[in-house]
Amino acid sequence: MFRLAALASLALIPAVYRLTTLPEPNTVETPPAMVDAGKILFDHEWQPDDPLTGGDGLGPVFNAKSCVACHRQGAPGGGGPNEHNVIAFTVQDEKSGLVKRSGVVHLSSVAPEFREQLTHVHPNLPNQLPVNDTTVRLDTSSMPDCFAPRFSFPRGVTLSQRNTPAIFGAKLIEEISDNVIEAEARRQRLKWAFVSDESEDAPVGRVSYLAGGKVGHFGWKGQTARLGDFVQGACANELGLSNPAADQPVSLAKGDYKGSGTDLTQVQCDQITAFCASLARPVEIVPDNPVTATLANKGREVFSSVGCVNCHPANLGSVEGLYSDLLMHRMGQELVGGGSYNDPPVPVPDAPDGPHPSEWRTPPLWGVADSAPYLHDGRAASLRDAIVQHSGQGRASSIAFQKLSVTDQTRLIAFLETLRAPGAKDRDAAKTTELAAANGDDS
Ligand code: HEC
Ligand code: HEC
Repeated sequence: MFRLAALASLALIPAVYRLTTLPEPNTVETPPAMVDAGKILFDHEWQPDDPLTGGDGLGPVFNAKSCVACHRQGAPGGGGPNEHNVIAFTVQDEKSGLVKRSGVVHLSSVAPEFREQLTHVHPNLPNQLPVNDTTVRLDTSSMPDCFAPRFSFPRGVTLSQRNTPAIFGAKLIEEISDNVIEAEARRQRLKWAFVSDESEDAPVGRVSYLAGGKVGHFGWKGQTARLGDFVQGACANELGLSNPAADQPVSLAKGDYKGSGTDLTQVQCDQITAFCASLARPVEIVPDNPVTATLANKGREVFSSVGCVNCHPANLGSVEGLYSDLLMHRMGQELVGGGSYNDPPVPVPDAPDGPHPSEWRTPPLWGVADSAPYLHDGRAASLRDAIVQHSGQGRASSIAFQKLSVTDQTRLIAFLETLRAPGAKDRDAAKTTELAAANGDDS
């Protein structure tokens, strides 16, 4: 045991050294005009044959008509409600287990002939009815049969929803160097005496290595390294806007359709990326009320003592208050979810099977108080639900939370409630003024 400890401390030296020689965040200024143009495109409600595009515009299949339709909680760029959850699917070969098809079942289409149905994934899945004839929308809330825990999927078929995360502070996340993330994975392995990152017990995370050795920073499955790549994927996957990096999705219902031209230029994509990169980081707001402030301060200690910090460390590299290790963790059978967000899926030669179905990238908890619902498919309505539903590598910590006194549980939640979207203080103040005015009207 001693020898192991000595070995462990030796092996830690290079990790610490790397941390102290971190490059400073990239401070090269983006021209404000790029950000402004990007904001217009982020908010724009796209139409078929939209004049802002060089191709067929929105669709033919899409999940919403604008980025902000989904990314809107707290402020533009925030998380989104379950109503806009994206449906990812995987179909495996029954015999070999190899993935035959995977991608996204889009919620909407520009015309009925493009309408994607769950039956396109597999004929034994329940069919979905069109909501109206021009824009046909798959209603995720009307899918209880299929997403209920006991629904038995046809063999080899997985459907899994993805809830919209917030993109505040995305530039800071992008700038966390691969070395820092790799050092964090080493730290966890050493701490847990070299337990495998395939363990479903010890909280030992895995670096998400992508094609070309890049390290995943973004996405519930840690599937993308660079912000710009995610943005260009989102333009195509979510809105059906083809661009130099990503084709628009082919409808599962009508594979022979070819759009004319490319919807977005590289410059337009760069503008949207510049806007996303300009989004301020979330903030920690200690409540004015001294009682709540004390609760929250003590809650930070509880967060540490029940082991949340193993996977949600406050700082990563030079980024303070992130509360994530950006590593992949196996979260147990309860949180299994396959499917690929990218359509078509990005081939990953080094990891042909992609992430394990129970693996998720630890979501940063900054801003978490303003981004309900929680977990990859939004199944947890409250912070408490999210904690209780941690399983696999997160189970021990979740159980430790559930064994706490009611006071300590309240403290931990009070702490999480201080983690707010940027600008929350001003919005809270405006709301208070509004309420006061409404009260004044009554009297
Ligand atoms: C239909 C809802 C929807 C729309 C529209 C949408 N997104 Fe998203 N966004 C999501 C979901 C869901 C995810 C998580 C996907 C995943 O990781 O599987 C996501 C993730 C992201 C991320 C990565 C965040 C992170 O930290 O992992 C970025 C960046 C992003 N979206 C940008 C955009 C941009 C830019 C647009 C417009 C071009 C857009 N999104 C449109 C739902 C949406
Ligand atoms: C083993 C690593 C691990 C530990 C330990 C852990 N978490 Fe998590 N946490 C995760 C992962 C991974 C997810 C995403 C799981 C998913 O979406 O299915 C997550 C999700 C969350 C979410 C939801 C965030 C969102 O944006 O949806 C909250 C809140 C959270 N954790 C809080 C905590 C708290 C509080 C503790 C301590 C009691 C804790 N976690 C312990 C890895 C961990």
